[in-house]
Amino acid sequence: MGWINARRRRPVAGYAALLLGLVVIGLLYGALTRTGAQAAPTTAQEDIANGQALFEATCSSCHGLDAQGTDQAPSLIGTGAASVYFQMSTGRMPAKEVGAENVRGPVRYTQQEILDIAAYIQSIGGGPPIPTAEQVSTAGANTALGSQLFMANCAQCHGFAGDGGALTYGKFAPSLTLATPTQIYTAMLTGPEAMPVFSDGALTPQAKRDIIAYITQTRTEPNPGGLSLGRIGPVTEGLVVFLGGMGVLVLIAMWLTAKRREPWDVAQEENAREARTAETTSGTSRTSGTEH
Ligand code: HEC
Ligand code: HEC
Repeated sequence: MGWINARRRRPVAGYAALLLGLVVIGLLYGALTRTGAQAAPTTAQEDIANGQALFEATCSSCHGLDAQGTDQAPSLIGTGAASVYFQMSTGRMPAKEVGAENVRGPVRYTQQEILDIAAYIQSIGGGPPIPTAEQVSTAGANTALGSQLFMANCAQCHGFAGDGGALTYGKFAPSLTLATPTQIYTAMLTGPEAMPVFSDGALTPQAKRDIIAYITQTRTEPNPGGLSLGRIGPVTEGLVVFLGGMGVLVLIAMWLTAKRREPWDVAQEENAREARTAETTSGTSRTSGTEH
């Protein structure tokens, strides 16, 4: 640790730390987008059978035994593999309770299980399939055009930087910081909850790739306004301010209540110590006195 401290103050170390941070972020990002890109449609018969078994065990209580829908949840016939992939890979489904807005959460199923259920739903009613890795690839995409398309189609709900925003009736459009290219593509294809469906007629597959390129690029641009706080939105900013503020308040409270040692305190302590020593010495002399 000593050698780190010794070198930390050199300006070069600052750049090295920045570079290390960027590499770590890049690797994390790569790992995240790779899981999205692996999603290729599977139609093998055993995948479908496996998906059906999983569906009956976890989803049918709300969506019905044949995915026909109940008064709790809509029919999934014709929603397609893309919708299942979007809902499950972002942890929205299986829903915990009916009625609440389903938000991004921990994913409780493996990639293969999600693909199996998606294949089952695809097999019973068709619908938009999961896009291939090439379809969501941003290689050669036009980011400037993507920015314009984003402003025209998405920003009114998701905000200009894609950091989310409030909608009417207490609903909100989430931040787009975490969505993988495949999730962005399937969100546009299937229009979850209050979001409209962007069919290939409304936004061509090329336009969708341009938008994905714009969204994923805004995450890597430096933030002119200072710390971005992950561009997650007002909640995190509030939390940071809250925690920081609490820290300062605690420090002030500690400083106010800390006892100052005044000169007369020191004198008093000295007197007390002297008195104590005197007592113990006299005590010992008394005990030794009784002994003899
Ligand atoms: C607790 C009840 C509940 C459970 C369990 C549940 N869902 Fe849902 N699901 C809902 C509700 C309610 C909606 C409609 C609200 C929404 O779109 O977010 C919905 C919507 C969906 C949609 C979007 C439909 C559309 O029209 O785009 C998909 C896909 C879906 N569920 C798949 C699943 C799968 C797959 C499972 C099992 C792994 C599952 N759900 C488990 C309640 C449930
Ligand atoms: C009318 C408002 C509205 C518009 C316009 C809209 N969205 Fe959405 N979007 C939503 C809402 C609401 C959700 C959350 C749905 C849910 O939780 O089921 C959402 C969810 C998403 C998600 C999932 C985010 C995540 O990480 O879970 C992505 C990605 C997304 N939208 C992309 C887009 C793109 C790209 C466009 C433009 C082409 C767009 N949206 C236009 C309202 C909107």
